[in-house]
Amino acid sequence: MATKRQPTLHPTKHPLSENTRGAMVELLQTHLATALDLTYQTKQAHWNVKGMNFIAVHKLFDELHETAEEYVDSIAERLTALGGQAKGTVQAASENSILEPYPLDLVDSEAHLRRLSDSYAVWSKALMAAISEASEAGDDLTEDLITEVGRGIDEALYFLESHFQVVKTD
Ligand SMILES: [Fe+2]
Repeated sequence: MATKRQPTLHPTKHPLSENTRGAMVELLQTHLATALDLTYQTKQAHWNVKGMNFIAVHKLFDELHETAEEYVDSIAERLTALGGQAKGTVQAASENSILEPYPLDLVDSEAHLRRLSDSYAVWSKALMAAISEASEAGDDLTEDLITEVGRGIDEALYFLESHFQVVKTD
């Protein structure tokens, strides 16, 4: 197995080993960037969406934005609690996010719902892998945080997809 690059950590009395903390900081850095990216993907949708269900989706997208902002803060502060240095700027997020760039020309509400659901599904999958990684590293509290974020992301995916899911009757 290839040795992963270890970030420089601040001195701390945190009981986890430096290796484990370094690995978790690297892991959390990716999810911090992704959460930051999603924060403004949802605002982009909130500001530009149009359609007959405008007010419902306009408000939904803002709620999703607020939840994503909470994830930004909790992920960043777990990362710093482990001795890491958070890469929390928009520029850093654009380099490290796992999401595809959100299109700037979307207008129609269904197009925003479908495109946002793509982003949430991508992050959900990565969060599942991150839960396993934190578990294998023995960092229960990072695992718990990522699990909580994953549960919220799955709920958001359900809220988004429920607008266009087709019920099969056969
Ligand atoms: Fe607003």
